[in-house]
Amino acid sequence: MAGKTMRAVQYSGYGGGFSALKHVEIPVPSPKKDEVLLKLEAASINPVDWKIQKGLLRPLLPPKFPFIPVTDVAGEVIELGSAVKDFEAGDKVVSMLSVKKGGGLAEYAVASSNLTVNRPPEVSAADGAGLPISACTALQVLKSGGAQFDGTTKPLNVLITAASGGVGHYAVQLAKLANLHVTATCGARNIEFVKSLGADEVLDYKTSEGASLKSPSGKMYDIVIHCTVGIGWSTFEPNLSDHGKVIDITPSPATFLSSALKKLTFAKKMIVPLLALPTKADMQYLAGLVKDGRLKTVVDSKYPLSNAEDAWAKSIGGHATGKIIVEISST
Ligand SMILES: NC(=O)c1ccc[n+]([C@@H]2O[C@H](COP(=O)([O-])OP(=O)(O)OC[C@H]3O[C@@H](n4cnc5c(N)ncnc54)[C@H](OP(=O)(O)O)[C@@H]3O)[C@@H](O)[C@H]2O)c1
Repeated sequence: MAGKTMRAVQYSGYGGGFSALKHVEIPVPSPKKDEVLLKLEAASINPVDWKIQKGLLRPLLPPKFPFIPVTDVAGEVIELGSAVKDFEAGDKVVSMLSVKKGGGLAEYAVASSNLTVNRPPEVSAADGAGLPISACTALQVLKSGGAQFDGTTKPLNVLITAASGGVGHYAVQLAKLANLHVTATCGARNIEFVKSLGADEVLDYKTSEGASLKSPSGKMYDIVIHCTVGIGWSTFEPNLSDHGKVIDITPSPATFLSSALKKLTFAKKMIVPLLALPTKADMQYLAGLVKDGRLKTVVDSKYPLSNAEDAWAKSIGGHATGKIIVEISST
């Protein structure tokens, strides 16, 4: 592909939201030794993508401008780095691109072979692109709360907040695969949807019952998978079982402080921040579940690359039901 150019969407500084995204024609990147060059079919947007643009992770990310955002992609292998032995040109794959390098809003991208997995024909590009950050996070949070996926989990009650979102909708399905009892929160419009994913009971977060997080059947939660913001420890605490643990994927400074204090005082009820790190093994496992029809990616909406701005604005709006997908090409 040397000398060829591609369409891409990038931004050149912090802030500006969707209106700072610019469409450009730039050279197709070349894969390094351990990388594969992908012709992208689909990408999915995660809140971290626009949080990086907002500057929430400065000065680490992005390391330089201009920056092509988005990490979660599906596509076809076009070229292989010299050390890549486990893929061939033509393989359909799901990849998580480097958080530092980004690159997902483009026609081509380079991905580490260590965060690339084969995509079975049963898994569409959109279904696959949804998985890396959102589904790996859901899986890792559940495992860190004690869920096992080999049928050996003891009965646990889990609360999943923002169960209609990118992470939450996978978490509900995975929790049911681990045989957990699931209480979920979401907005009124998504109650039937979240039930259809398998949740045993659902609370509307805008009602007083929802705001209290109380299980309608009186369950005390062993695990809380906390996927939204604005809920304090005093709301969680009375709903936790004796050794209940809140795993907070949107931690504030108060979460870190509270977590440290609880560790120091050997508290039985805990709150812990969690930053998930997608792995090849988890991505393979999740793609296999989608192939077998045991896990689904629910697509909120799809946008062509030429209208990536609307996908970006939709994610910033915070009201997606499932995943927001940018369609790039069908190979
Ligand atoms: N720590 C990590 O490793 C990690 C990994 C992935 C994501 N995250 C973070 O986790 C958060 C969730 O990510 P996501 O991809 O799931 O986001 P998302 O898809 O944008 O979530 C949107 C959904 O959240 C629902 N929601 C918003 N506020 C709610 C509330 N108070 N109670 C119940 N539901 C609520 C919305 O419902 P309505 O439309 O009805 O309001 C919407 O369906 C983000 O802040 C993200 O950055 C962290």
